[in-house]
Parts: sequence; structure tokens; C-alpha cells
Amino acid sequence: MDTPRSSGHAVARTDSAGAISGTCVMEQVREPCTIVIFGATGDLTSRKLFPALADLCAHQSLPRDFLIVGASRSSLGDADFRERMHQSLTEYAPDDEAIWSRVKERLFYHQLSYDEPGNFQALARFLADLEKERSLPANRLYYVATPPTVYEDIARNLGQAGLAKEDDGYSRIVIEKPFGRDLASARQLDAVVHEHFREHQVFRIDHYLAKETVQNILLLRFANAIFEPLWNRNYIDHVGITAAESIGVEHRAGFYDNAGVLRDMFQNHMMQLLSLCAMEPPCVFSAERVRDEKTKVYRALRPFPVDRIDEHLILGQYSAGMVNGAKVPAYVDEPGVAPDSLTPTYATMKVYVDNWRWQGVPFYITSGKRLTEKRTEIVVQFKEVPVSMFREVMGEHITANRLTLSIQPKEEVSMTFQTKQPGPMCLRTVNMHFDYAQGFSAPKVDAYAKVLLDCMLGDHTLFWRQDGVELCWGFLTPILVECDCPDQAEKLHLYKAGSHGPQAATKLLPDPNGE
Ligand code: BG6
Repeated sequence: MDTPRSSGHAVARTDSAGAISGTCVMEQVREPCTIVIFGATGDLTSRKLFPALADLCAHQSLPRDFLIVGASRSSLGDADFRERMHQSLTEYAPDDEAIWSRVKERLFYHQLSYDEPGNFQALARFLADLEKERSLPANRLYYVATPPTVYEDIARNLGQAGLAKEDDGYSRIVIEKPFGRDLASARQLDAVVHEHFREHQVFRIDHYLAKETVQNILLLRFANAIFEPLWNRNYIDHVGITAAESIGVEHRAGFYDNAGVLRDMFQNHMMQLLSLCAMEPPCVFSAERVRDEKTKVYRALRPFPVDRIDEHLILGQYSAGMVNGAKVPAYVDEPGVAPDSLTPTYATMKVYVDNWRWQGVPFYITSGKRLTEKRTEIVVQFKEVPVSMFREVMGEHITANRLTLSIQPKEEVSMTFQTKQPGPMCLRTVNMHFDYAQGFSAPKVDAYAKVLLDCMLGDHTLFWRQDGVELCWGFLTPILVECDCPDQAEKLHLYKAGSHGPQAATKLLPDPNGE
């Protein structure tokens, strides 16, 4: 059922001066829940999931009765697992002893092999016993935080052990991107998942969607009357969507060298940012209606002319350089990367959305590792005024307005416009600026905390739907096929770590100063 998002979302009220007066509190899960984390000894669990669960506990968003069961191949006891999770809190979250003592009693560990159906029967008994001892319903969230190679095994074995059934509570499976590595494998994964789970039980995570500043894109567009009338081809010249990172491949070479930037960032995060910028307003803020509108954007993506791909796509790979004052190796010298690897770590793409609103407006989408700085932002570049009535004194050119949505690490909205400089008749570009850090004092909710919370609440709004996944793979797969072909070396532009990316990209991208 597609219900508008409202239950549990407190409404903030503004007073006449516009200040927030009501309390806008975090949603709270009321129904007891058992969270089973596959890949419990992995990096994602320690760095993100467990700290996020502790964060939810601190916000009193978790239900009164909850259990966390770590499941993975390592041979550990409950005590060892608790020790690891305590360590993760010390490293990645504010170390709060009160929270730890509340959580630790609810932590358990179950060893299994993902490809052993019998081990999942044992897991089913283990969960049933835990819940029975505490008189809890079988509400279960299965979070798959493993390498993608075992997703199908886990879904199949959960199903075969009867763990996908919803007889005595809900059963939900949470899958991290990447959802496949091309259109065919995405369909194959989905078919396996759907042999056992129905769509309402499946949550496909894209943590970008849960970032506050990403959620704000829809609010900025559709809770204000002033932007939407201008939000189209008549007023917008182009849109830039950038997710630059200063980090390299880190310890994920095994995954990354087989994926590259297009699969790692474009098929998911970048496509979501694009759809939030380009979609039509849904009639109501509900999971299905929001996702319907995103799907229409993906359907309208203009396929790349594969014989002229360089006019639309520049790929790069970092060479050795300096980042934040430290020397860093080339991608091919990173541990675990093949020395002759042609995997792109940077891409910039010019994309068109073929519909009435966006016809002819290019979206420049860029993401790369080992760039100058971490910066995720959306820049909406408006057109210049149709004619300069000041041309006699100031010439024809007047710098056009620009709206920047800074997603991270700066969390800001800023708008440039022209003002008269004091004194002679000259224009000056000034900036109107809103900074989240100054605007709100409420504690921030981490993206992983938000997705976990929504999974427990059963709210799909911030998750991928399979039609969107397939449409995006449908758009990217021909490009990937072209990029994977033997003459790929020529298409890969090296760029120095710590730079702005390959020089070749400047030919594709618009002038950053809007001149
Ligand atoms: C992940 C990618 O999904 O997102 C990583 O796999 C990337 O390669 C990360 O570094 C970026 O996330 P964030 O939240 O730090 O921008």
C-alpha cells in the first residue's frame, strides 16, 4: 500500500518571523524488531551500520524491544562480537557508555556460510529461540552488508529456510548497491530475490538519498513557489552535478577494480541526484508516487551515440600526486589493483533528458576519486538576461544567476545575483546564502541511521525501485560495453591525484565561471 509519508513525522511550525517553533522530532519505531546483519564482521558494519544503530538508540528511535544479530563466516562468540562492536563505537561514534550498556545485552552472533542452506535453517531456529525467550514477534530486517557476490545466495537461502515468510511479523531484506553490474545481472539478482520476497519486502539502499541535503532538494523545489516556475529549459542553461572525492580506492580495490566509477557512483548516487533535480512534482509525497516521477526521468534519458561517445563522456584514472599535502600513489600502484588496470576512477558525462521541461538543457555529471577536495554539489546555472539594458555603460554581458545546492561537506544553499556596486555604474555578483549548520540546531541524523529507521518503519521513499534500477542500467550498459572494449586505453585520461581531474574534461564541461 502506498501511504503518504506522514505517520511519525512530527511537523515543525514556523512563527511569524519564520523561526522554527514546534519540535520536529525523529520518528520512533514502536514495533519490536530483530535486525540481522550479514557481513557483521565487515567494514560497513563497524564503520556505518553499528554506529548508526547506536545513534538511533541515542535518539530513542529504536523500539523498546530490539535485537541485533551479527551473522558472518568468522568463528566468533557473542562476547567477541560485542567486543568488536564496542570497538566500533569507540572509533566511529561518540563513545556513550549509557548507550553501549543498553545495546550490548541485545547483541548476538551467529556463524554461517552464505552458500550453505543448512546454516540458514540453523539461523531460523536461532532467531526463533531468541524471540521466544523474550516473547517478541518475528519482525525481521535482514541487512545484507556483504560483497555483492553472495547477495543471491543469501536471498535464496533465507527464502528456502522459510525466513522470508511473514506469518508472525514482517520480513524485510535490505540490499546495498551495487544491484548487479549491468542490466542482465541486475535482472538476474532481482529474479532470485523475488523468488522468495515480494516487492514490499525489498529495500534497495542508496545512502545518498538519506542525506539531509539530498532530501532537501525536493523540499527546496516543491515547498517553495519561487523556484519551480523557473526550473525548466526556458530559464536554465545547464545543470552541473558533482561528487568529487579526495580519497582514493582505499581498502576496496578488490571491489573497485572490477567496478570503476561508472558502476560505483553513476548507476546509483549520481542518477538519484539527477532525478531529484529533473523530476516533476509528484501529486503526493509517497514512496510510489515519488519513485514514479523518478522513473519517468530515467525513461527520458537520451541514449549516448556510441560511435561518438567522447562527445558525451570523459573517463580518467589518477596517477601519483599530492592530496592534502601528502604524497599518494597512482591508482595502479594501490594495493590490490592490477598494475595494468584500465579501470576509470573519474568520469564526466553530458546527459540530456528528453522531455518538454528539459529539452536541450545539458546535465553535466561528474564524479572522481583523488580530486582536490571532497565536494558534492548541484549547480543550477540560469540563462543570462535576454538583453542588457546597461549595454551602453557596462556592455552586453551580465553574469547569469546561479543556484548552488552544496550537499557535502558544506551543507548550504546559495544563490548569486547582480547588484549595483556603490559609486560608479558597475555590477557586482553577490551571494545569498543559507548554511544548515547555522540554520538549525537539531542533532543531525546520519544517512545510515535514516535508512535503517525507514526500513524498520517500512517506508520505501528513500530506496530504489527495480524499474529505476533497470532503466539506469539500460542507459549505462551500452556505454559500459563500449568502455570495456579493447581500445579502452585510448579513452582513459590520466590525471594527477589532487588535481581537478583530466584536462580533457574541460573541453566537455562548461566554463566554471559561467562566462
Ligand atoms: C559509495 C561508493 O557508495 O559512496 C564509494 O562505493 C564512495 O566509492 C562513497 O566513496 C561516497 O559516499 P559519501 O557519503 O562519502 O559521499
